[in-house]
Amino acid sequence: MTPTSARASLALVIGAGGGLGAALVQQLSVDVQYRVLALSRNTQPAIDYTDEASLRTAAEWVAEQCAAQQADLRLLVVASGFLHGEQGQPERSWSHLDADYLTHVFRINTIGPALVMKHFLPLLPKQGRCVAGFVSAKVGSIGDNALGGWYGYRASKAALNQLVKSASIELARRNSQAVCVALHPGTVDTALSQPFAKTGLKVRPAAEAANDLLAVLTGLTPVQTGALVDYQGQTLPW
Ligand SMILES: NC(=O)c1ccc[n+]([C@@H]2O[C@H](COP(=O)([O-])OP(=O)(O)OC[C@H]3O[C@@H](n4cnc5c(N)ncnc54)[C@H](OP(=O)(O)O)[C@@H]3O)[C@@H](O)[C@H]2O)c1
Repeated sequence: MTPTSARASLALVIGAGGGLGAALVQQLSVDVQYRVLALSRNTQPAIDYTDEASLRTAAEWVAEQCAAQQADLRLLVVASGFLHGEQGQPERSWSHLDADYLTHVFRINTIGPALVMKHFLPLLPKQGRCVAGFVSAKVGSIGDNALGGWYGYRASKAALNQLVKSASIELARRNSQAVCVALHPGTVDTALSQPFAKTGLKVRPAAEAANDLLAVLTGLTPVQTGALVDYQGQTLPW
């Protein structure tokens, strides 16, 4: 990425405590192009999607960092997500649909990133290249859904993709060089995928997935804004 000004460039990873998020922070920390900021439920300030005030406070902190470091936020990667946990498991059948699980999966996969858009996209510079990548999933593609199941996770990621599309349009109005995409990282060896990693499925280390996603983000042009893009740079169907 080639920022237009002599100011420093900041990269921010939200969801920095996850398998993919931690790998993204690690790779960005050795990238001389950026100074990296990381936010998670365990950082100071902390971000928790169940508490919008935490996002507002964290966004103010990022704005302060930009001012103090005479830097611009040129890269935002949102690597949070939820598939399974104490709130429930992905559904194999409509008979498993559960309001509490659905509420949680939408809160983390859809509403949280929407609030990130509200509080952090305004921090992106109004001029010059900047990129926002929201980690989604190919199973959120309606056109690609051949197997069914995983109702809540699929629907929450499909809704995230729609949010990304709307945000990309609004972002382009304030900066024609901005790029905002949904990302599919492939199947990655993390806690999220661990119970579902079947023999024969290509599961990649988080470091490799992070490296691929950063390479894709670096190569995207404003023409591709609003798309769902995989870790090889291919645009996926909605
Ligand atoms: N692993 C795969 O095979 C795979 C495949 C397709 C798509 N994805 C997507 O890739 C992304 C990263 O997933 P991962 O594999 O790295 O999973 P992971 O290791 O389980 O990480 C989950 C992430 O979600 C965040 N999170 C969970 N609850 C949260 C809350 N209440 N508030 C804020 N953040 C919360 C965690 O935040 P903290 O940083 O605070 O811990 C963590 O960063 C997700 O969007 C996932 O859907 C993964």
